[in-house]
Amino acid sequence: MNKIVVTGATGLLGRALVKVLSQSNTVIGTGFSRAAPPIEQLDLHDQAAITTFLDTHRPNILVHAAAERKPDICENDHQATIALNVQAAKFLATLCKDRHIQFVLISTDYVFNGQAAPYIEDAATSPVNFYGESKVQAEQAVLAVSSQHTVVRVPVLYGEVEYLAESAVTIIAEQVIKNPHSEHDHWAIRYPTHVEDIALTLNDLFFQPPEMQAGTFHISNNQSMTKYEMAVYIAKVLGLNSQDLVALPEPSQTAARPYNCALKDTRLKSIGIAHHRDFATAIANVLNKHTL
Ligand SMILES: NC(=O)c1ccc[n+]([C@@H]2O[C@H](COP(=O)([O-])OP(=O)(O)OC[C@H]3O[C@@H](n4cnc5c(N)ncnc54)[C@H](OP(=O)(O)O)[C@@H]3O)[C@@H](O)[C@H]2O)c1
Repeated sequence: MNKIVVTGATGLLGRALVKVLSQSNTVIGTGFSRAAPPIEQLDLHDQAAITTFLDTHRPNILVHAAAERKPDICENDHQATIALNVQAAKFLATLCKDRHIQFVLISTDYVFNGQAAPYIEDAATSPVNFYGESKVQAEQAVLAVSSQHTVVRVPVLYGEVEYLAESAVTIIAEQVIKNPHSEHDHWAIRYPTHVEDIALTLNDLFFQPPEMQAGTFHISNNQSMTKYEMAVYIAKVLGLNSQDLVALPEPSQTAARPYNCALKDTRLKSIGIAHHRDFATAIANVLNKHTL
């Protein structure tokens, strides 16, 4: 049985990682402002606290899901973004190498510019915003610390949320409920992926021999859609009229976004690991569980 530490365990992906990985491993989750038992509070800017934490718990795997992942926030504060997304990741990766702990960095499809999809795992990176840039720097730093470490790129995520605005997908439900004439991006192609599919995939990967876990992996659903198309699905699930929703043909956000970052999961396919679910059914389940 693996002993796994999950950073960012109070976040969207981290909560699903703790839930799924706990079924067949010992898991210790860490968070920061939202940490409450059994999740331990660990400030990833506090190097002494991180070292004590790892030497106390002595895991054999660490999944690093904590990050600042909102592009507009990253664009406005480069220093804080580098401190959390790059420096903390590099420090953790270094401690893990010294202690023979498998280190897994969660990264993003935003390391690509979206002009040459689909992307295989060793395609050249080319971020269009500072969030993507910080993740490229984190990936390079982590793999420079050890080529045996793991980088896992994922696309836009959804799953059980604490509030609808918590994920870029469920916030669409809030917009659709509030305004039948709400406007939605119909330019960027996205591949919304359920956080539990990421967790199930990692769980399977951790049963592979260590050399098979090294390097970069892509995990992604393969249903492509724009945010406008997600809004139409969501309106249907909620029993709302989608006719008046407005499709925006141009990008509308502050920080630049890539057009289409389809991630090809060639490495996972080659070892027979795949967990995918239908978007319409899964988003219905997420919204049904949530009090709207
Ligand atoms: N969400 C997406 O659509 C998406 C898409 C592609 C890639 N990703 C990547 O997937 C990973 C997980 O994303 P997510 O959506 O789950 O993020 P999230 O919901 O925003 O959660 C961020 C996590 O980071 C923790 N954190 C922030 N500052 C910290 C600090 N100083 N010390 C310790 N922990 C700190 C937060 O803890 P508190 O909340 O307790 O403060 C929280 O647990 C990230 O690496 C992200 O870049 C996400």
